Amino acid sequence: MGVELAYTDAVARATEGLYAKVAGFIPKMEWHAYAPVIAEINRLKRAKGAVILAHNYMTPEIFHGVGDFVGDSLALAREAARTDAKIIVQAGVHFMAETSKILSPDKTVLIPSTKAGCSLAASITGADVRLLKQKYPGLPVVTYVNTSAEVKAESDICCTSGNAVRVVEAIAREFGTDTVIMIPDKYLARNVAAKTGVKVITWEGACEVHERFTAQEIRDYRTAHPGIVVLAHPECPPEVVAEADFAGSTAAMINYVGDHKPRRVVMITECSMSDNVAVEYPDVDFVRPCNLCPHMKRITLPKILDSLIYLREEVTIDPMIAERARRSVERMINLKN
Ligand code: 13P
Ligand code: SF4
Repeated sequence: MGVELAYTDAVARATEGLYAKVAGFIPKMEWHAYAPVIAEINRLKRAKGAVILAHNYMTPEIFHGVGDFVGDSLALAREAARTDAKIIVQAGVHFMAETSKILSPDKTVLIPSTKAGCSLAASITGADVRLLKQKYPGLPVVTYVNTSAEVKAESDICCTSGNAVRVVEAIAREFGTDTVIMIPDKYLARNVAAKTGVKVITWEGACEVHERFTAQEIRDYRTAHPGIVVLAHPECPPEVVAEADFAGSTAAMINYVGDHKPRRVVMITECSMSDNVAVEYPDVDFVRPCNLCPHMKRITLPKILDSLIYLREEVTIDPMIAERARRSVERMINLKN
């Protein structure tokens, strides 16, 4: 980081409301390091007309300190399409920033670390999709947003974990088929197939965070904490989802906690989720397994600050690819039912 920042009285005043939210689990000493950076990021955002879209897996100092809009992949994509800001800083991974650029080609989209990838996005290329289409001609291709723009460009429609069932059913109806190609997450595809009458041809991709959870781990939570409510992300293997009380996107899990206010809950997903959600629900006891996404964790406050100061790293996409990818993403966003 190029600028020296100190914890002054002005910084304390500017951030005291934010600290009140996270005081339960960020010690004061640690906050003294975060607060000057948070204050400077929030000042620069206003000065430059920038907005920070932060995914639910960001660490609490980012999620609660500088995120203007927080949510799951679907909500962030919708917000990218809607925002009037000239600059979007994506506090998330690279495919999320690409999705924002696809939807807002005239805006400057910045990703604080180009190394913030995703094992799913890395598992498949545009050429792989072209081969799949040759092998299964006429079948619609449903592509998870956790992919590159090039892969989205080869697809008929995108989906997120928040709308995958709806997307698969709608596109199968539209194509008059009982089978779709659903890439690249083999577990999401199987979990969706189990909830619909639609058959899926999938790809050998998996999320390196969610594939590590096991059904035994969930049974152990139930033994250790009788009555615990288990929420799982649909990127988990099907046998893990089968052991859970509810499976849904990161936003759907948060809504579940808000709607049901369980006494004790465990979220079978990335580490930071429980920390972020616990702030809003002090009466719910969160058991916190920690499977960390190394890609998400490359996004830090100092990197976000650098991103705003130097306007880097700017996300660019070949306009021909972006145009074709936009059709798949917009088809998903515009889906009515
Ligand atoms: P959500 O769309 O549920 O937020 O998931 C994104 C993701 O990367 C999960 O690993
Ligand atoms: Fe990709 Fe998994 Fe990380 Fe989400 S948690 S960004 S799916 S590696």
